[in-house]
Amino acid sequence: MPRGLFITLEGLDGSGKTTQIKRLAAWLERHRLPHIVTRQPGGTAIGDRIRQILLDSRSTGLAPMAEMAMMFADRAQAIAEVIQPALEAGRIVLCDRFTDSTEAYQGGGRELGSQTVLELHRLLCGALQPDLTLLLLPGFEASLARARRRNHRVEQQTGQNEGRFEAEQDAFFRRVWQKYREIAAREPERVALIEGDLSIDEVHEQIVEAVSERLVLAELQAE
Ligand code: TYD
Repeated sequence: MPRGLFITLEGLDGSGKTTQIKRLAAWLERHRLPHIVTRQPGGTAIGDRIRQILLDSRSTGLAPMAEMAMMFADRAQAIAEVIQPALEAGRIVLCDRFTDSTEAYQGGGRELGSQTVLELHRLLCGALQPDLTLLLLPGFEASLARARRRNHRVEQQTGQNEGRFEAEQDAFFRRVWQKYREIAAREPERVALIEGDLSIDEVHEQIVEAVSERLVLAELQAE
């Protein structure tokens, strides 16, 4: 059986990934393409517990190396429990964030560097690479403002503050942004960069175009 397709979505907090994943999943559904949707951190029972620690704004004093190790612990569990089995069953896996997030946030934002992240990825994730990464980089200020508003709204509704990252300074997010651009420039074959302030429909169209191309390619390779 041909291996499924591994598609990841990346971008700053507030870049509109969640909306776009839902639209893409609906598109796959309409075309009867078997798929699953998952996210990191989280996506497994163990991962959800790790996520709580990572995102809770009360987790003060978490060392950057510990933060990175927990992102990878979450990912290793998700690969074993969810991603690998789905790919082996021939499904399309849509994953909200993957190792590019660790490279951008911990490697760039926390200044731990790309090399450490890539080395850990090789050791802990069997070097599993996405077939396609959709990187959403709308305007920097607009994304951050949206992420902070959303976090405030969720906190008011649920009493939970998952905004440990949103609380970071703009300089942190500038480094994350920069690292994402570096990744896109380094791996243009894998990463489809969708940038600028486009409408939700326009971004969706670009995503569908990139995914369709990849699906055609996968079919050709399977022949
Ligand atoms: P989440 O609420 O899922 O945010 P979003 O909807 O923007 O994806 O929170 C995930 C947060 O964790 C986000 O701020 C990015 C951060 N993160 C890392 O720092 N490193 C990682 O490896 C991953 C997967 C996420």
